[in-house]
Amino acid sequence: MWLREMEPNHSPAFLSLFLVASMWCYLADCYDPLDPNGNITITYDIQTWTTRGYVGRVTVQNYYQFRHVEEPGWKLGWTWTRGEVIWSMSGAFATEQGNCSLFKFDTPHSCEESPVILDFMSEASMENKSEGCCRSGVLSAWAVDPSKSFSSFEISVGSIDEDGNEQPPTNITLMAPGPGYTCSPFLVAHPTVSSLIDGKRQVQVFRTWKSTCTYSIFVDNKTPLCCVSLSAFYNPSITPCPTCSCGCRKANKSSVQCSRDEYQLSTTDSATNLSLVRCSDHMCPVRVHWHVKTNYINHWRVKLTVSNYNYGRNYSNWNILVQHPAFSQSTEAFSFNSSQLPSFRFGDELALFWGIEFYNTELVQSTESNVGYVTTEILLEKDLESFTLSNGWALPRRVYFNGDDCQMPLPDTFPMLPNGSYKQRLSLFLPILPLFFNLLFW
Ligand SMILES: *[C@@H]1O[C@H](CO)[C@@H](O)[C@H](O)[C@H]1NC(C)=O
Ligand SMILES: *[C@@H]1O[C@H](CO)[C@@H](O)[C@H](O)[C@H]1NC(C)=O
Ligand SMILES: *[C@@H]1O[C@H](CO)[C@@H](O)[C@H](O)[C@H]1NC(C)=O
Ligand SMILES: *[C@@H]1O[C@H](CO)[C@@H](O)[C@H](O)[C@H]1NC(C)=O
Ligand SMILES: *[C@@H]1O[C@H](CO)[C@@H](O)[C@H](O)[C@H]1NC(C)=O
Ligand SMILES: *[C@@H]1O[C@H](CO)[C@@H](O)[C@H](O)[C@H]1NC(C)=O
Ligand SMILES: *[C@@H]1O[C@H](CO)[C@@H](O)[C@H](O)[C@H]1NC(C)=O
Ligand SMILES: *[C@@H]1O[C@H](CO)[C@@H](O)[C@H](O)[C@H]1NC(C)=O
Repeated sequence: MWLREMEPNHSPAFLSLFLVASMWCYLADCYDPLDPNGNITITYDIQTWTTRGYVGRVTVQNYYQFRHVEEPGWKLGWTWTRGEVIWSMSGAFATEQGNCSLFKFDTPHSCEESPVILDFMSEASMENKSEGCCRSGVLSAWAVDPSKSFSSFEISVGSIDEDGNEQPPTNITLMAPGPGYTCSPFLVAHPTVSSLIDGKRQVQVFRTWKSTCTYSIFVDNKTPLCCVSLSAFYNPSITPCPTCSCGCRKANKSSVQCSRDEYQLSTTDSATNLSLVRCSDHMCPVRVHWHVKTNYINHWRVKLTVSNYNYGRNYSNWNILVQHPAFSQSTEAFSFNSSQLPSFRFGDELALFWGIEFYNTELVQSTESNVGYVTTEILLEKDLESFTLSNGWALPRRVYFNGDDCQMPLPDTFPMLPNGSYKQRLSLFLPILPLFFNLLFW
């Protein structure tokens, strides 16, 4: 029996972190404090009236700074209230045609009362393309690439209303790609304006409705995706990751699961995924390791490594958000693309890292012999007023992977400065440490 015994001091650590996270959620009405304005907005524009209804354009815009919509993409659903049908669509399609037997001469695209709409794959034939479509429903995070953060499609709707008194559909659902999003009803908004003739003429649509969808980890009901481990040149011990789960798969593919009752979380859909995670001390699908590597006179250097412990899952266009006060100073990441984000009321600065195109945007899966990883060194300028190696100041406050909050070790387990006269001495000593650090990864 391989089943890993939980070290007794791990459970309380995990539990208290979990409680902190959930209280934030309930008190703050479940928005993410690091991205309080994040949402996915669905805009429904009526562009023209037709003899049998209207032509509209629907835009799904991801305003989340660091949460993207990944393969297999978004899935949008709603319920018509007045027996509308979709005559035709371009840039997306309804999954079911439904019962169109009332229409004898011209068959609508979909007669479903509650259609479910998907984006086309990029290979869709040109005639069915429309502006902003056809990326398999994949949306970039806003801070990474706003130009790929939306999808848009055109819809021709048959409506019995001759008086232009159309009502928006209700019960909007967004799977992006799984559950986790809750959408508001469509509300009347200021008509969408676009410009023509090089911006010299503004035109507006007849009517605009908007729905806002927000993500909640509690609605998504999934086990933690990632964890953070820490080390520093001044201490030979590595602070391990808190555990995410207690299930994993042995290299020989005999899959194993166990109950997570002790964490008061449901195991429903995660149980199957756990069996695809490589066994490790933490049993998290993803580990982020922060190593304080060097202390120079005016700078300090960190090595950031993200490891993928999944056997059957690559993360395309991954991103990492790190909260650390030092990011207010100039920061250079050598092998990742990066940008600073506004930190709102939480004081500490936020830096977002993502892969460099054609180099490391893909965080590949693990194999029996290797763990897939991406890594960079980061050179941070010192603010001599605040910089210190003591009290774990040099370690990150929070880390997110693809928008999900990672499990942080408790502060009392952080690597400590050794006792004695040692006080922020410039350290180019401890030559065994690189070796030690290497052992961690290879
Ligand atoms: C959705 O996000 C946008 C961009 O951050 C923001 O302007 C808008 O107010 C948000 N909508 C809601 C309802 O919070
Ligand atoms: C399809 O709709 C028609 C008209 O509403 C109805 O008479 C017929 O029974 C429906 N067919 C099925 C298979 O539901
Ligand atoms: C493209 O649209 C046309 C007409 O709307 C339709 O007949 C055709 O099946 C569509 N092609 C694809 C690949 O969906
Ligand atoms: C919308 O969903 C609610 C709850 O699922 C349901 O009670 C209601 O009947 C639905 N409305 C329509 C128009 O389908
Ligand atoms: C897989 O590993 C388990 C536990 O280590 C062992 O009991 C089982 O026989 C192994 N299966 C194969 C096919 O090697
Ligand atoms: C992940 O990427 C590797 C290398 O590109 C590829 O061989 C593998 O099939 C991919 N796995 C999945 C699940 O797509
Ligand atoms: C980094 O991101 C910026 C903004 O998305 C982009 O313009 C730039 O090309 C990226 N650089 C690399 C090396 O990917
Ligand atoms: C460091 O000093 C503290 C108090 O001064 C003491 O409790 C602790 O045991 C010391 N640690 C080591 C490793 O000597």
